[in-house]
Amino acid sequence: MRIERIAGKKETQATEEDYSLISEKILKYKGKTGITIPVLQTIQKAFGYLPKNILKQTSIDLRIPLNELYGVASFYSQFRFTPVGKNMIMVCKGTACHVKGAEKILDEISRKIGIKDGETSTDMEYTLEGVACIGCCALAPCITINNEVHGRLNTKSIDKIFKSKKAEGKNQ
Ligand code: FES
Repeated sequence: MRIERIAGKKETQATEEDYSLISEKILKYKGKTGITIPVLQTIQKAFGYLPKNILKQTSIDLRIPLNELYGVASFYSQFRFTPVGKNMIMVCKGTACHVKGAEKILDEISRKIGIKDGETSTDMEYTLEGVACIGCCALAPCITINNEVHGRLNTKSIDKIFKSKKAEGKNQ
């Protein structure tokens, strides 16, 4: 499973053309109130992050001050300002997972994909991020890959997951 994005988009700074791909969705919010978060979520769902120029055009079209968009986006950790890889891997570092070896899991994944916590691979295939509790403590230690939860992990199961992801990728 992959992050839901506009099909075929490269993970680089979005262009003006890109805005036209989501403008219809954005313009549906015009004139409504309490829209800042859903609008930001719409943009991030399409691009995987909040591209500057898309925020700028959104601000113009919806008459929301640009600093308000940035202010709200900066407040919530769900929003990002930099591109992420096609596969977003989040390793839970919450207490239950920490106790059950989250660091080992993170190290193993990091070794496998060749990037550290907080980094994105140069081929834009993976982003790796250590996060706070993801709400599945009974499954500790756990991770999510593109929002899909994998729990009760050890280094062997990590290996299995990546093998099946690779096979999935080849079949796409
Ligand atoms: S501590 Fe990892 S899911 Fe809660």
